[in-house]
Amino acid sequence: MNLADSEIVASLLSRDNYAIEKDINQADYILINTCAIRDNAEQRIRKRLRELRALQRGRQWVKIGILGCMAERLQKQLMEEEDNVSFIVGPDAYRQLPQMLDNLKDGEKLAETLLSETETYDDIEPVRYDTNGITAYISIMRGCQNYCAYCVVPYTRGRERSRDPRTIVDEARTLFNKGYREVTLLGQNVNSYRWEAESGKRKAESEADAATSSHISVGFPQLMAMVAEVSPLLRVRFATSHPKDLSDELLQVMARYDNICKCIHLPVQSGSARMLKLMNRHYTPEWYLDRIDAIRRYLPECSITTDVIAGFCTETEEDHQATLEMFRRVRYDYAYMFKFSMRPNTYAAKHLQDDIPDDVKTRRLEEIIALQGEIALENNQKEIGKTFEVLIEGVSHRSDQQLFGRNSQNKVIVFERGDLHPGQYANVKVTRCTSATLIGEVVDNK
Ligand code: 5AD
Ligand code: SF4
Repeated sequence: MNLADSEIVASLLSRDNYAIEKDINQADYILINTCAIRDNAEQRIRKRLRELRALQRGRQWVKIGILGCMAERLQKQLMEEEDNVSFIVGPDAYRQLPQMLDNLKDGEKLAETLLSETETYDDIEPVRYDTNGITAYISIMRGCQNYCAYCVVPYTRGRERSRDPRTIVDEARTLFNKGYREVTLLGQNVNSYRWEAESGKRKAESEADAATSSHISVGFPQLMAMVAEVSPLLRVRFATSHPKDLSDELLQVMARYDNICKCIHLPVQSGSARMLKLMNRHYTPEWYLDRIDAIRRYLPECSITTDVIAGFCTETEEDHQATLEMFRRVRYDYAYMFKFSMRPNTYAAKHLQDDIPDDVKTRRLEEIIALQGEIALENNQKEIGKTFEVLIEGVSHRSDQQLFGRNSQNKVIVFERGDLHPGQYANVKVTRCTSATLIGEVVDNK
């Protein structure tokens, strides 16, 4: 999401005579887009700010700005604590950036952190910098109002709002025409995407008008279908799904289109009913497993990935065992695994205690990581002998004689280069694997 936001910022500033400077030693402004989700994300930014002091000593005019969730969370306090920061801009205020930079005088400090109920930046065509030219993100909605007890996002990114589907489809089409072959539709909870509008007149002024104007409502499954229709050669992915809202209708749409990738990221957070309730997740382990069954039913080839938190407030060994059991039941292909980090302002910070000692959190996290490592390896071993259609993304980091790409399930596959090149599709048969990568050979070229 931050990558997509940085592309919007680059676009807004490029329109106003600013240009991207890749060499940080030549830049006049340094903008740091930040995350506030866990304390260590914020600590990394503070460390970066200390490192930038040396650069500023030789170039005193350089101004540093903090964008994103950390700016929103800490507001002006951040500039008081970090005296080399000149401006801070929250996630809904990026349109103000060009003017801010134009007006920012030496020694002055500026802050814009107002959250909006309507801003979607849907008229901004992002500048795709630092890209492979093949895969791109499209932000389809902003904000979140699920208020999971541990999570700071609803406070830093504001209310949910969805973007006009026509602008999303146009963006996908433009990318396709430029040679991109995969788009990932992004939102904190894509399943609650909804666009409502009156066609013709926005509001019917008379009964006659009312008869000619019709109500348009587009939900996430329809949006996926609209983007998939751009071209059968354009792959479509999405993130992130909230398990409480994952509908059969979406799974049916996914089954209908070959170019909708068969990969679902479904953050479980915990396998314990008691923890899920305390986390305010609005589902039980049974509900979650029912959704997993539905995925397997409609999309037998679908990969499933997740997020999990170890050591949330009051978590017992029994709760932790329930999480391990959930991992054994679902057999995720990949997992993002975290230690709970108490975030100021959240329900947890106001009403619960961060009572699991750090060494216990660490041990539980390590147990989850070890189990997931075994499962991922076993899952990958089952792929040996299968042939997948791979979208080639680039040259392998290990050897320039090898290319890498992903299959529909989002698994990375490495293979000999031959005369293929990035952006093409190739059929690759898996011959070996590690827990993270499949290795294969091209069987025929499309
Ligand atoms: N501590 C640890 N992990 C968190 N996440 C969100 N908030 C916290 C927190 N306070 C994790 C969740 C979420 C992912 C993006 O980050 O697993 O799905
Ligand atoms: Fe945070 Fe929950 Fe919203 Fe995800 S759904 S962004 S975890 S509040």
